[in-house]
Amino acid sequence: MAQEVRGVVAHAKGEPVSIETIVVPDPGPGEAVVAVQACGVCHTDLHYREGAINDDFPFLLGHEAAGRVESVGAGVTGVQPGDFVILNWRAVCGECRACRKGKPWYCFDTHNATQKMSLSDGTELSPALGIGAFAEKTLVAAGQATKVDDRARPEAAGLLGCGVMAGYGAATYTGGIERGDTVAVFGCGGVGCAAIAGASLAGARKVIAVDLDPKKLELARTFGATDAVDASAGDPVEAVRALTDGFGADVCIEAVGHPEVLRQAFFARDLAGTVVQVGVPNPTMTMPDIPMIEFFGRGGALKPSWYGDCLPTRDFPMLIDLYLSGRFDLDAFVTETIALDEVEAAFHKMERGEVLRSVVTI
Ligand SMILES: NC(=O)c1ccc[n+]([C@@H]2O[C@H](COP(=O)([O-])OP(=O)(O)OC[C@H]3O[C@@H](n4cnc5c(N)ncnc54)[C@H](O)[C@@H]3O)[C@@H](O)[C@H]2O)c1
Ligand SMILES: [Zn+2]
Ligand SMILES: [Zn+2]
Repeated sequence: MAQEVRGVVAHAKGEPVSIETIVVPDPGPGEAVVAVQACGVCHTDLHYREGAINDDFPFLLGHEAAGRVESVGAGVTGVQPGDFVILNWRAVCGECRACRKGKPWYCFDTHNATQKMSLSDGTELSPALGIGAFAEKTLVAAGQATKVDDRARPEAAGLLGCGVMAGYGAATYTGGIERGDTVAVFGCGGVGCAAIAGASLAGARKVIAVDLDPKKLELARTFGATDAVDASAGDPVEAVRALTDGFGADVCIEAVGHPEVLRQAFFARDLAGTVVQVGVPNPTMTMPDIPMIEFFGRGGALKPSWYGDCLPTRDFPMLIDLYLSGRFDLDAFVTETIALDEVEAAFHKMERGEVLRSVVTI
C-alpha cells in the first residue's frame, strides 16, 4: 500500500521550501523504497528551488542520501530489504550508446523510478536528480541504491551520493590527477574540498585552494590543501602561477559554476594542462571571452565533469572503505545535522558560506 510520509517540497521559483505530506507508492518492478536516514543539503538543491535547473515544479528536494532499503519490487536482485545503501543519480542502463562504447560513467539513459511520488492531492512531484530524499522515505530505481558497509555513519556516507563524489571524481577521474601533479581548486565548498581530498589522495604534490572566504580556505587545508589563495585579495591567476614556479597548475578545477572563475581556471593552468568544470552554471551564463589563440596555444583539455565521472557500484564501496580505514575523512564534511524542517534555513547558511554541508537526519 502507498505510504504517506513527510518531505521537503519546492513549489515555485525562489519561494521558501515547505514540509508536505507526500505519497510514496509501493515499489514496482525494478524499484525500491528506501527509508532515508540522512541527506545532505547540496547547492544543486538550491539551484532547483531557484528554477535554475528546469521548471518542473513542484520538486521533492534532496539527493545526497543514505538509508535502509525497506522494500523492493519484482525482479530486483541488486539490493534487498535491510541493506544499508547510498543513493545515486547514475543507475547505468547498460544499453545506451555510451554504455555500449564501454563508457558507462557517461550513461545517457540512467534509470529512475518509473512510478511517481506525489502530493496528497495527487500532484506529481519531480524528485531532485531523480531521487528526492529530503523525505522520510523515497522511491527510486533499485540501481540508484548502492549497498555499502553499514558501519559508516549515514550522515557521512550519504554525502558520497552527490557533492563529495562529484568533487573526488572531478579530481581523480575527469582531471586524471597523478602523483606529483600540481593542482588548483577554485571554490572550496563541499565539492571543492572533496576535489582537494581526491587530489591529495592521488598524490598531487601541490594542492592550491582558491576561495573568497577565509573560513573555507582554512577548511580546505584540513582536506589536504598545501596552499591557500584568497581570491578577494588579488588576482588568483597570478597567485597560482607564483605558487607553481610561474607556470600554472597541471590541473585546475572550477567548483563554483561561474564564467569568471572558469576564466581564472583557464589562465591559471600550465601549458597542456587540464581544466575541469565541475561547478554548475545557471542557464543564463555564457563561456568567458577567451581569445581563440589562447585556447589553441595553451593546448591541454577543458573538461566538464558530470558527477565526477563516477560509477557508484565501483566507487561508493571503495570510498566507504577508505573512510572506514581513516584515509578519507567524510565526517569532516558534516558541519551540522539538522531536522527536515530546517532545510530552508540551511540554504541561507550555505549562501552565507557558513557550512560545508548541513545534513538532514531522520
Ligand atoms: N558536476 C556535478 O556533477 C556536480 C555535483 C554536485 C554539485 N555540483 C556543483 O558544484 C558547485 C559547488 O557546490 P558546493 O555544494 O560545493 O557549493 P558551496 O556553495 O558549498 O561552495 C561554493 C564555494 O565557492 C566559493 N566561491 C564563490 N564565488 C567564488 C569565486 N568567485 N572565487 C572563488 N571561490 C568562490 C564560495 O565561497 C564557496 O566556498 C555548485 O555549482 C553545485 O551545483 C556539481
Ligand atoms: Zn547507458
Ligand atoms: Zn548535489
